[in-house]
Amino acid sequence: MRRKVIAGNWKMNMLPNEAIEYIEAFTPLVKDSKAEVILCVPYTDLFYCLMNVQGTNIKIGAQNMHFEEKGAYTGEVSGQMLKSIGVEYVIIGHSERRQYFNETDESVNKKIKAAFANELKPIVCVGEKLEEREAGKAESVVTTQVKLDLEGLTKDQVKSTIIAYEPIWAIGTGKTATSEDANNMIKTIRKQVAELFGSDVAEEVIIQYGGSVKSSNAKELFTTSDIDGGLVGGASLKPDEFSKIVNYND
Ligand code: PGA
Repeated sequence: MRRKVIAGNWKMNMLPNEAIEYIEAFTPLVKDSKAEVILCVPYTDLFYCLMNVQGTNIKIGAQNMHFEEKGAYTGEVSGQMLKSIGVEYVIIGHSERRQYFNETDESVNKKIKAAFANELKPIVCVGEKLEEREAGKAESVVTTQVKLDLEGLTKDQVKSTIIAYEPIWAIGTGKTATSEDANNMIKTIRKQVAELFGSDVAEEVIIQYGGSVKSSNAKELFTTSDIDGGLVGGASLKPDEFSKIVNYND
């Protein structure tokens, strides 16, 4: 049985003092969670969060990284830098980065490889736009992203990759994909992984759903056959609400 992994994506929110208060409130609420719990926080919060989750079951991730190790890339942060302070996870290819910061499948692929070179576990986001869904192209868009993003990875690397299926029209809009649609797309992604890397890899790879997940729909989404947890934006900003998502099965 695959484990459930539930990650919060704080995006560009939370000052260090707010992050510390959050973790203080959140830790006791999720201490008995059966799901793996990750908080993906802004760079400026990483160190504070890492210090404050010591001895808890909460893991910390970044929201992006550069694929080069070091050099003249003003304003960028490398995988080696993240690893050096104890970060475990990194979101790669979030649709907001694809949309506003020219992230492409090629750079996503390079970043995933650089993450593994630094022993970071990538959470790789894929998902279609509304126009693509309406034109009946959702599956081909998403399977192409999966193919290009994971190209050249080893089987073991894919097994420890987390894929987050996030239909762009569902992010931050309050519109959630139905659990049936989300589960079907995730089955399609799993099939694509099986074709590319083998069915053993497809059986193991964690595939999350993201896009307006909240405490009122988490259980329905996460108890389907193929959805292995979620990547949660807005609803991860409140410790109480996010803990209800993490503890969806209670
Ligand atoms: P949302 O964001 O939960 O606010 O829709 C999800 C995400 O962007 O990862």
